[in-house]
Amino acid sequence: MSGVEMNVEDIGASRPMLDLSIRLAAIDDVAAYCAFMGAIFAENLDTLILDVSPDLKAASRYIALHDGLRSALFLAESDGKLVGTMNFSRFDRPEKDHTVGVGLYVGKENRGQGVGRKLMEAGIAWANGMPDVDRIELLVMANNTPAVRLYESLGFLCEGVKRCSVKKEFGYLDVFMMGLLLKEAASASLSTQDQRAA
Ligand SMILES: CC(C)(COP(=O)(O)OP(=O)(O)OC[C@H]1O[C@@H](n2cnc3c(N)ncnc32)[C@H](O)[C@@H]1OP(=O)(O)O)[C@@H](O)C(=O)NCCC(=O)NCCS
Repeated sequence: MSGVEMNVEDIGASRPMLDLSIRLAAIDDVAAYCAFMGAIFAENLDTLILDVSPDLKAASRYIALHDGLRSALFLAESDGKLVGTMNFSRFDRPEKDHTVGVGLYVGKENRGQGVGRKLMEAGIAWANGMPDVDRIELLVMANNTPAVRLYESLGFLCEGVKRCSVKKEFGYLDVFMMGLLLKEAASASLSTQDQRAA
């Protein structure tokens, strides 16, 4: 996989794992969700494709659409505090209905403590429970080493590179298109279990 080189911090070397709970967002979460997303985008990260942070009205609509039936918005909480969010979203196109797209965000104070992995595992379990979902896909900036490593460790493959897809103040950056086929991932995990049992 090609990409921009970056310095990578040690993976939360001495950071404790959190006591986490993961649940679907409800309409009452709208204010906390807006504040959380606002703080993420305000960081102006070099590794993230920035978006406009949602206002209360847009976020309420978004939460209502992500009720867990076709699309889902997951919240990770620790000690009652929102520490991460993740959306698994359908595309509004019939021929893409077997696919969900992912957005994953962990709060600055809680990165490297297992939140991203826990959220992704919950999302993949949710997708596996949806009979019509076959594929999970996402875009990740090539310099976002923590995110790329997390997705690869869960079985996502890099399916292509959008060259110079993002323009930051300091220059252009590539974006990786990554995907996970659920049936392929399930049979890979079965064959690993068979090999262990043999
Ligand atoms: C990328 C992000 C979601 C990862 O979540 P996280 O909670 O920090 O990651 P976790 O602690 O669950 O680590 C999961 C894996 O990610 C990778 N990882 C995490 N931090 C890393 C780091 N600093 N360097 C290299 N790999 C790292 C490792 O493979 C790690 O595996 P492990 O569980 O065996 O240690 C989080 O850093 C984040 O929200 N960043 C800002 C927003 C963003 O970039 N979102 C992704 C957009 S595609």
